[in-house]
Amino acid sequence: MVTTRFTDIRRFDTLDSTNRYLLDEARLGAPEGVVAVADHQHAGRGRLGRSWEAPAGANLLVSVLLRPELDPELRHLASAVVALAASDAIGGCTGRVPGIKWPNDLLGGDGRKLAGVLAEADLGSRPDQGPPPIVVGIGINVGWPASEADLPPELAGSATSIRMETGQDVDRGQLLDGLLTALEPRVADLGSSDGRSGQAAAFRDRCVTLGQRVRVTLADRAFEGTAVDVSPEGHLVVDGDGGRRTVVAGDVVHLRPAG
Ligand code: BTN
Repeated sequence: MVTTRFTDIRRFDTLDSTNRYLLDEARLGAPEGVVAVADHQHAGRGRLGRSWEAPAGANLLVSVLLRPELDPELRHLASAVVALAASDAIGGCTGRVPGIKWPNDLLGGDGRKLAGVLAEADLGSRPDQGPPPIVVGIGINVGWPASEADLPPELAGSATSIRMETGQDVDRGQLLDGLLTALEPRVADLGSSDGRSGQAAAFRDRCVTLGQRVRVTLADRAFEGTAVDVSPEGHLVVDGDGGRRTVVAGDVVHLRPAG
């Protein structure tokens, strides 16, 4: 039995959003390590203001409260370690370790999305409550979609699940245990320079965006290029027509090679 900081696991049948719940708990002073897991969310949040939906009881919907001592430019590493731990856990349950599409989607074998990560910080928190909280939520498609027929038109051809990828019925509790166990040493690494370098390197190794032709959409513009590196901060380095750029936050699409 591995001891982790994730001992306070709060389970809900239904919640609007596990991220919203933990952000509110953090504002009340909840410590690092609290976990919220829901069978169903009725207002699940995705990246870039999107929603995240899954039928009740089918997928793993979980958030963790972290309070890492990270400079602002390193905060991406908090979501990177959660994506890595989820990838570890899926690999442990299925024998197939999913790759990570920058910034932190887990992909199935054919490039479909298997899981998504959303990190939300409260930078205005009270200093006496410790380092500012970062709530990192992950939705892992475990049993849903069971087949292409389950997908709504907007997700057709772009989402997958552990069930669809492997034919296995993975137990969500076992997957959560695996995730939290894998997350413990990765979060501990955020506390040292060598540890952070190791996590950035691990992320780079598992990042399937590297070498891909990509379209990057920023808040005010978009550009295309080739993803060539992940920086020590976890940011994506892209060689574009206008030169080399480092992408801190944005949406990335893998483009299919011409022809
Ligand atoms: C994405 O858009 O790819 C990120 C999706 C993140 C979904 C998870 S499910 C658990 C947690 N609670 C939320 O409201 N969102 C995250």
